[in-house]
Amino acid sequence: MPHNRPRLAVAILIALINAAPLQALDPSERQCQNAIATAGKRLLKRSLAALASCERAVARGGVPAGTDCLTDPTTAQKRAEAAAKSADRITQRCTDAVVTSLAPAGECSGARTVADVVACITGSHDAEAGTLLQVADPSSGPLSAVAQQCAAQASLQTRRYALARLRAIQQCKRSPRLLDLPPGTVCALEPSTMKRIASLRAQAAAQIAAECGAALTETPFGAPCDAPGTGDTLAQCLLSAADASSDRIVVSQYAAVSFCGDSGEAVEQRIDALLAQMTLAEKIEQMHGAALLGLSHTVPNDRLGIPGIVMIDGPRGVGVTLGNATAFPVGMARGATWDPDLEERVGEAVGTEARAKGASMILAPTINLLRHPRWGRAQETYGEDPFHLGRMAVGYVRGAQQHVIANPKHFAGNSIENTRFNVDVSMDERTLREIYLPHFRMAVQDGHAGAVMSAYNQLNGHYCGENPHLLHDVLKGDWGFRGFVESDWVLGTRSTVPSITAGLDIEMPAGIYYGQPLVDAVTGGQVGEDAIDGAVRRILRAQLCFRLDTDPPQMDPTQVESPAHTNLTLEVEREAIVLLKNSAAALPLNRTQVHSIVVVGPVATLANIGDLGSSTVAPSYVVTALQGIQGRAGGVSVTYVPSLPFSASDVAAVTAADAAVVVAGLTAQDEGEGQITVGDRTGLAMPRDQDQLITAVAALNPRTIVVLEGSGPILMPWVNDVAAILTAWYPGQEGGNAIADVLFGDVNPSGKLPLSFPRAEADLPPFDNVSLAVTYDYYHGYRYLDRNGTAALFPFGFGLSYTTFQYAHLTLAPATLDPHGRLRVTAEVTNTGAIAGDEIAQLYVSYNGSVVDRPAKDLKDFVRVHLEPGETETVVFEVRAADLAFWDTAAGGWEVEPITYTVRVGSSSQDLPLAGSFAVAP
Ligand code: BGC
Repeated sequence: MPHNRPRLAVAILIALINAAPLQALDPSERQCQNAIATAGKRLLKRSLAALASCERAVARGGVPAGTDCLTDPTTAQKRAEAAAKSADRITQRCTDAVVTSLAPAGECSGARTVADVVACITGSHDAEAGTLLQVADPSSGPLSAVAQQCAAQASLQTRRYALARLRAIQQCKRSPRLLDLPPGTVCALEPSTMKRIASLRAQAAAQIAAECGAALTETPFGAPCDAPGTGDTLAQCLLSAADASSDRIVVSQYAAVSFCGDSGEAVEQRIDALLAQMTLAEKIEQMHGAALLGLSHTVPNDRLGIPGIVMIDGPRGVGVTLGNATAFPVGMARGATWDPDLEERVGEAVGTEARAKGASMILAPTINLLRHPRWGRAQETYGEDPFHLGRMAVGYVRGAQQHVIANPKHFAGNSIENTRFNVDVSMDERTLREIYLPHFRMAVQDGHAGAVMSAYNQLNGHYCGENPHLLHDVLKGDWGFRGFVESDWVLGTRSTVPSITAGLDIEMPAGIYYGQPLVDAVTGGQVGEDAIDGAVRRILRAQLCFRLDTDPPQMDPTQVESPAHTNLTLEVEREAIVLLKNSAAALPLNRTQVHSIVVVGPVATLANIGDLGSSTVAPSYVVTALQGIQGRAGGVSVTYVPSLPFSASDVAAVTAADAAVVVAGLTAQDEGEGQITVGDRTGLAMPRDQDQLITAVAALNPRTIVVLEGSGPILMPWVNDVAAILTAWYPGQEGGNAIADVLFGDVNPSGKLPLSFPRAEADLPPFDNVSLAVTYDYYHGYRYLDRNGTAALFPFGFGLSYTTFQYAHLTLAPATLDPHGRLRVTAEVTNTGAIAGDEIAQLYVSYNGSVVDRPAKDLKDFVRVHLEPGETETVVFEVRAADLAFWDTAAGGWEVEPITYTVRVGSSSQDLPLAGSFAVAP
């Protein structure tokens, strides 16, 4: 049929265009990118081979037992030669300008010159070889023939697999297959790449299992593969270590993929086409919310198929504007779990519910650093330490973004409520970079957040919504953020031209400054249309990469407050409760010995799940502390006494009970979001005569147990008078059940404080929520207490258990770290008590002889581990050399100092029994 031919030709042409390799990189960029990938792969291969050959010699007894291959001079020489070859390859094919435009990520983020990229690729790849072989082929003494065979095969297969997987991903990154990837997916998930990797993995696993099945107990492997049950579990563990290594290598060789994954360039092409069709008015329509009141959203564009974004609050669950939802424990409670994987599940659940209610973006997590516990929104964030905060934020963002766009907030320095709309928070650049921003950087670079909300306050003289340093230089510049920035609601946008110039992309919730005034600013020539295109590109990128056009949210009430989610709130709260004091084994309340409990205090009967500001969630039920205790009491009798003054029968009940549980603390009357609820706390003392209540109960009953609720620190004048104290925070809708589980010993408490509890407010830096200009210096929280030599009442990282843990045998490798390398630390943790429990092992670093003033110690890693009675596990920590840097204000960059560092490991910031040291090479 001749008349069909032209159409067929057009169709073929379109298909060819679509199938053509991406031309996103120009030839010189392509050449440099390929050189980095090839040089990196070869270096990894050679370093692995050099280390493995040293290990073989050790196993055969050819070199002295105890030789450390990481420092062995012959091996070091081979690795250095390999690094030099790779460096040559990159140097010959790259220029500074090309490296700058490629902007590699991961260990190479910030590399802007050929010298930078050579240093980070050679340093990080060689270090990665060491990291992998410390697991798959660690140094030991001579081995029997069978063990030698197992060690050799395991090492060979792990190395081969890591390299082959790397090669498969690199091939995908070069190929037109990228165009077929759905937006937001990465090469490792591209179907043919996945198939290839799965078959490589199966082959390698079979070889390891075959050779090692009989020799497992004799052959040493490094943690976490040091105690494999079978040859197959060993293989899976080693190959997972290889997965992690090759993933990190890939990240450092290419530009950040952000939330768009490897399909990003195809999305950019679609955006180019859309922008070409949009009028100025249509573009600006994308840049502001639709209405001051009601559910917040941006406007869809039906003509072009742009879906718009529906936004809902979410720090402790889906906001009340969309009706009922699962109420999780507040952020501070979740911070106390020190469990980023669990937080990922929380984010995933909140994202699921948001989407099931038609929203496409969750206005969470709140990740402002808690400078002072009187901050009214303390409950929403995860704690006082930037590293811990960042790890938790990454968990939430990763989970939520499986379903909706996540939105870390409020960027930045927002930690006072009463003056939040106006206060100018000043701080020097080092304080900003090291204390107030790292968690935002992690949320953006490691979590790949699709959006960031600017804060209301000013930072160093500019409102955050029009702050060029924060939005333009740091967020979009240094960190390479590819999502959009939207203002906090109403007073978060203060201007038209300064805001768009600084980098604010969306004004929320309506277009006061970004409606007609922005159209006028463009037509009047004050704002270039390229600035508008840049903002709209970011807004469209988020919508397309999250597939809001092709896979929009669908209403699904069955997902909301589902049993899976309400069970998750219970699980989270069980991990979040922190046991602060437990004298004379007052807890747990063993049901066979304790026959009667009196529950005291008005908070025991409150549905106390958090403040009444924007983070309000309305679950369909809340289990109060009293209901939880009654429901789980079994045969134990439970009576309730509300408050003082006590009647004669109250006194009799409190005195006669085998144990008295006072539930006390803060409520929405005491703390919350500023201007719209009560705002900041007026002090750290317990409100509403609850101190007197606790003292009165303690005077009558020697087994008085205090359950605290609220955002955090409360002064405890009665601390020595009561037998036990635990803090349950604002515990979510299943909170009462979790509290009862811990009291009765059905759950062993395992939470640790994500912030310091001081003895007195005077022990903390001042909290000024009246002045409109405040200055933040470097120190707060445990760093401040450490510096002043002040003991906390309960320190950062502290929490008791019903069992006991012991720490032993610290190892650190390598002894000298490349400035782009990674330190691997292991420690043995043993459960020395009679019941199973979780321990949160913490690693802190101190700096010896730094040229700048440094804190006494900084948290740099933590691991939650479950241990049966008597069980020992080797926990593995990692510290990137880059995370040891200080911000060199004069040079305007990060500086990793070639000094010695002390590592301390233990159970809290004040209980660190293990210590070791390492150096960073110049
Ligand atoms: C809060 C934000 C919130 C927004 C929308 C503001 O007042 O500061 O955290 O997301 O309102 O409800």
